[in-house]
Amino acid sequence: MTYVVTENCIRCKFMDCVSVCPVDCFYEGENMLVINPDECIDCGVCEPECPAAAIVADTDPAAATWLELNATYARVWPNIPEKKQPPADAEAWMGIEGKFDTAFSPSPARE
Ligand code: SF4
Ligand code: F3S
Repeated sequence: MTYVVTENCIRCKFMDCVSVCPVDCFYEGENMLVINPDECIDCGVCEPECPAAAIVADTDPAAATWLELNATYARVWPNIPEKKQPPADAEAWMGIEGKFDTAFSPSPARE
């Protein structure tokens, strides 16, 4: 079992999840994070920390289409061990539907 980052993270990227993860298993894309399912220890502490409610357990039906994306991009995006400054317009993207189709970026984070 693992936890999974879902669509609500896209363009929100608050990164409060990174601050609490005991095993640093988040990976950073240009505009969202993913969890490496092979590294997540299923502690669950990140789930309530996300202001966008973007993190769910893989047993949640909402995780179904996101588990593979998390595993895929955890292999190609860089690890993020510490919280950074969220995007200036993060609040404006909260709860917007269909963000994967309109706003997802497969690019890794830019330093
Ligand atoms: Fe990290 Fe725990 Fe969240 Fe997994 S469930 S990503 S180990 S904080
Ligand atoms: Fe994304 Fe929520 Fe973390 S918006 S970066 S999953 S705190």
